[in-house]
Amino acid sequence: MGAELAFLQLASPGLSEVLDRLAASGVERVVLVGVGDVSGPGVSWLRRVAADWWRGFGEGAPVVATASSFLVDEAEWAGLVARARPITDGGPGLRSPVWEEPPAHRHQVLVCRGPRCTAAGSAGTWRALVLALMAAGLGDDDVLVTQTGCLFPCNRAPVVSVQPDDVWYSRVDEAATAEVVAEHLVGGAPVARLRLRREPRDG
Ligand code: FES
Repeated sequence: MGAELAFLQLASPGLSEVLDRLAASGVERVVLVGVGDVSGPGVSWLRRVAADWWRGFGEGAPVVATASSFLVDEAEWAGLVARARPITDGGPGLRSPVWEEPPAHRHQVLVCRGPRCTAAGSAGTWRALVLALMAAGLGDDDVLVTQTGCLFPCNRAPVVSVQPDDVWYSRVDEAATAEVVAEHLVGGAPVARLRLRREPRDG
């Protein structure tokens, strides 16, 4: 397709790096087409991150447009590119006032994406968690989900921890994720069968 690949998170090259390179090479128009699934950043993220780069670049920045939805089927590529909307539609680039403040979440769930947990399927844990929270009607203001590097107890992979409750869970596969959401994040009671005991040291 002749496209460049850029990542919004967790891998390189990042979107800004690729946009910098394209702008330096004299490209005048860039169309961003998202590829991913429901558990990753959506089109709105793509637009806001691109708008932030565009504002920072200033005069001489290429026109940047985004496709209205993520690419699912290769056959949709040409249509998505043709219908792409400039990030400056409706004003001088999108801004995200809510990103100024941390969300007022009750819980933060850390999902380990370190090497052992990733090998044990934590990408699926992450995806199942996001879907279960959406199904339960819980957004970022309720439960902030964060992917992390190794959390240490690798032999218990996939590892998840729920803060500020300081509850750690081991072997959280996709089925176990539903229990964590229903019993702990909705019901308020940690799931005893999955719990990984942690003994904080005094002093
Ligand atoms: S890789 Fe997840 S705890 Fe180490």
